[in-house]
Amino acid sequence: MDQVALVTGASRGIGQAVARALADNGFRVLGTATTEAGAARISAALGDHGKGYCLDLSHREAIDALVGELKTDNETPSVLVNNAGITMDNLTLRMKTEEWDGVIGTNLTGVFHLTQSLLRGMMKAKYGRIINISSVVARMGNAGQANYAAAKAGLEGMSRALAAEIASRNITVNVVAPGFIDTDMTSKLSESQAAAMLSRVPAGRLGQPDEVAKLVAFLASDSAGYVTGETIHVNGGLFMS
Ligand SMILES: NC(=O)c1ccc[n+]([C@@H]2O[C@H](COP(=O)([O-])OP(=O)(O)OC[C@H]3O[C@@H](n4cnc5c(N)ncnc54)[C@H](OP(=O)(O)O)[C@@H]3O)[C@@H](O)[C@H]2O)c1
Repeated sequence: MDQVALVTGASRGIGQAVARALADNGFRVLGTATTEAGAARISAALGDHGKGYCLDLSHREAIDALVGELKTDNETPSVLVNNAGITMDNLTLRMKTEEWDGVIGTNLTGVFHLTQSLLRGMMKAKYGRIINISSVVARMGNAGQANYAAAKAGLEGMSRALAAEIASRNITVNVVAPGFIDTDMTSKLSESQAAAMLSRVPAGRLGQPDEVAKLVAFLASDSAGYVTGETIHVNGGLFMS
């Protein structure tokens, strides 16, 4: 039987590329979007290789509903790619509580709850691959992104703690930290912001979603069984750890 991989935020950008890469590698891929229409598009794109589901990580009930649907459909993911994430940028002095809570709720708390819910299946199978998508901003910081940097730095710490808890069960937990990747998230930047950002990237270009997806596909494979608790950067040299 094909291994099942769940990819959150698979409707666009990095998540879409990850879903494609995992399907190419023989996984049955379940991808999420925030709307039914987005989920239907994922199903259409994956065809026989998987299915789209609806998920809003900011609502605990929505996470529980997805987990229930997976159970009904008899789908037990052995690979979880926590890719979905949002930004709500503002300078700290102006940041509203909703902007702080929104980003922490989706990018950190939501990821915790979904991971916790799917962990039991992996523990039972004594096999799993969890890959969390962070950001270079977790290490570098970025003005206007205190909420996002906190959520991603929290995600990295959470991944190391979880990796230590479950390594003996043959379940790995790793983080991929992209730099500036060509997706809807970066297309929101103004021309001057984009130029300033690119001037700091030694590679002199944005990364492509596929360049992140290939690393995720490696971490999801059997070959990566002794890599755990690690954060791997994909950033064209913007930050070297
Ligand atoms: N692009 C970059 O330069 C960059 C750099 C560093 C890190 N990252 C990280 O990489 C990941 C993917 O980024 P991206 O640039 O590919 O993003 P993107 O193009 O903006 O796509 C975001 C994805 O997340 C889904 N999503 C949005 N809000 C959600 C919610 N509340 N619950 C569940 N899913 C939700 C979206 O679904 P809908 O289509 O339904 O809205 C979409 O599939 C994120 O974690 C991001 O922080 C990106």
